[in-house]
Amino acid sequence: MSRLWDRGEPLEATIARFTVGRDPELDLRLVAYDALASLAHAMMLVDIGILDREELPGLRRELSTVIDEAKVGAFPIDLADEDGHTALENRLTERLGDSGRRIHTGRSRNDQVIAALRLFGRDAVLDVIEELLATTELLHSLGETHREVSIPGYTHTRQAMPSTLGFLFAAYAEGLLDGVPWLVTAFEHLNRSPLGSASGYGVALPLDRQRVADLLGFSRVQENTLAVQNDRGRTEMLTLGALLAPSLDLTRLATDLIWMSTDEFGFVSLADQVTTGSSIMPQKRNPDVLELIRASGARLRARHAEAANLYASLPAGYHRDLQLTKEPFLEGLRETRDLLRVVRPVLETLVVHPDRGRRAMTPSIGATDEVYRRVAQGEPFRTAYKAVAQDPATAVTGDPAEAWRDRQHLGAPGAKAGSGVRRRLDAAREWVEGRRAAIETVWEALLATS
Ligand code: ARG
Repeated sequence: MSRLWDRGEPLEATIARFTVGRDPELDLRLVAYDALASLAHAMMLVDIGILDREELPGLRRELSTVIDEAKVGAFPIDLADEDGHTALENRLTERLGDSGRRIHTGRSRNDQVIAALRLFGRDAVLDVIEELLATTELLHSLGETHREVSIPGYTHTRQAMPSTLGFLFAAYAEGLLDGVPWLVTAFEHLNRSPLGSASGYGVALPLDRQRVADLLGFSRVQENTLAVQNDRGRTEMLTLGALLAPSLDLTRLATDLIWMSTDEFGFVSLADQVTTGSSIMPQKRNPDVLELIRASGARLRARHAEAANLYASLPAGYHRDLQLTKEPFLEGLRETRDLLRVVRPVLETLVVHPDRGRRAMTPSIGATDEVYRRVAQGEPFRTAYKAVAQDPATAVTGDPAEAWRDRQHLGAPGAKAGSGVRRRLDAAREWVEGRRAAIETVWEALLATS
């Protein structure tokens, strides 16, 4: 096959390889979306008289075949094709002749790639939210199960106040859930049609941009055609930015699980089936999965910075630099989905040792609760504080490991979860299901052979 812009002059092989980069491999993940967008574009070209209505069934059939092939990774994109958009047009031309030669009327690869990226991104963000909600659900239920398992609460990695293991899990559940609105914003940013912007300056045809947007289920057209191009890279950065929230939460959770499961602490231990061994030390079971979750978070922050840096110094409009924002975007979405998924078997099989958390507590961890016992009897806070500070360890009365029971207010360690998390979980799930169903309906309508 050949490049769309080929005029017959040879292209230096090293230049071809360098400029194509990872496109053949990465575009394979976008081809199905490119095909759907091409179908919507073709339907609009029929409406404005560029394509004949009789050409549509052939295009629909061929594009559906491409979608099926792409789904199993079987749509070939060669180096000679340069990218997935070229491979797609070449395929349509090879099978359908002039319909293939007409499909690019009123578009450019510049708006074509953005359309594919946004349609892909919509689904991928929904995947991430779904995984996030499943993990939140699990953490929320572990919060209940271990609500009364005493462990020290720490600040500065020093014992601070008595707490519980369930409280820690519930905190992560709530934190993850707080990231959902970030992801919804990314989804909505992605959900605007770039098509018709062509290379960034429109074309001399009465394109019906709204019709294409409707056919693809985009919430609206992104109007200014140059703004569309200026948004490439920035959209990727925004989406990667939204992924940072859950990935940072999981990074910290992974770190907590690593230290809590050490031989020295042993508040929990990791099941054999989620740990890995050592080639030299027979006794070792290592938390590699948690370390890679942590590393994956570090890489995501680098991917976010990569997109921002690629974007930062460009003048308005399309530049080939933007091709390189594809990799952090596609990989960042995939990795975040995976890390949200892979933590679940670790949590599901976690073995809890309530005695270890209890035994780890120093007597003085109950000092603040002792101060509050005095406060409850009318003593001024500072006076009580100073009295306990004389010798905190001996001042503590009662079992410090149970002192969290005295904290009864909303959200305190050991308190039963309020209905807020449950409500927000359900609302988020409903939102995702609504978006999924809407997208499904749109694809069915688009591919229906009527
Ligand atoms: N692979 C290219 C990209 O991702 C497609 C657009 C090419 N456009 C161009 N004017 N060379 O940016």
